[in-house]
Amino acid sequence: MGSVTDLEALLRPPAMEMPPYPPKVITLASGEEMVVRQVGREEIPTLLKAIYPLLLVERDYYDIVAARLYAELLAYKRYRVRDEYVLVGLIDGVLAGVVNGRLVDAKVGMSYHTMTIRRGLRVGSHLFAAKMEYHIEHVGQADVLIVAESPIGFRRWMIEYPLEKRYEVQHELGGVPSWVLTRKTYFDAKPRLVSGRRPVPPALLAGAATIRLPGDDVVKRQVLDEKGGGR
Ligand SMILES: CC(C)(COP(=O)(O)OP(=O)(O)OC[C@H]1O[C@@H](n2cnc3c(N)ncnc32)[C@H](O)[C@@H]1OP(=O)(O)O)[C@@H](O)C(=O)NCCC(=O)NCCS
Repeated sequence: MGSVTDLEALLRPPAMEMPPYPPKVITLASGEEMVVRQVGREEIPTLLKAIYPLLLVERDYYDIVAARLYAELLAYKRYRVRDEYVLVGLIDGVLAGVVNGRLVDAKVGMSYHTMTIRRGLRVGSHLFAAKMEYHIEHVGQADVLIVAESPIGFRRWMIEYPLEKRYEVQHELGGVPSWVLTRKTYFDAKPRLVSGRRPVPPALLAGAATIRLPGDDVVKRQVLDEKGGGR
């Protein structure tokens, strides 16, 4: 056997050329501006810190989504997942939500997770739309495979777009039957669900260069605040 470096090369999956996600800015219902941008591997430890306090929050399925997202982010950082990308939403540089997914091949995308840290502003809805935009418009894929782990997710994706069943395909998240977003579904939904402007003004982009985290107590309060959770 060769050196550790040779072994590491064997352990790492092959990588496709992936286009970058061009940043955009979305004006939220509150009037606040959310910058949506891609993150690099060096920023993953910051995201892991944000997700960690949610691992034990059962409300609205934050626990399972946090646990799986944690593993997916770590796998991205440690090169143990194939062709993953991660996008964040930042309000004044503060983390409001995270989405991720990966490319199965040139034509098919696999949506992984959407997690809102700052609730009540459809941050998750906007970020999910951004990842669909990435797969369909920037990578140029035909289909994105999607599942929901929570009733809120089901409402946001399966019903709002609406998605179609592709039950003959097992999704990577637990092998459950997949749903699919096609190019047609995406472009039909785009005027309703995909928002944002480019280019992001330089001052806003500079303010989103470093991810700032709300305190653990703030995250838990935002996620758990009584406003009809469990639905
Ligand atoms: C699913 C999810 C990404 C949607 O994010 P979002 O679009 O930003 O939506 P929010 O979570 O803010 O709000 C969803 C609903 O819960 C309600 N809600 C529950 N708790 C709330 C809180 N603490 N603050 C504000 N709203 C809350 C909202 O009123 C909203 O109702 P609506 O659907 O009638 O608008 C997000 O709820 C989330 O991260 N959930 C946990 C993980 C998860 O399920 N991910 C998706 C897996 S498929």
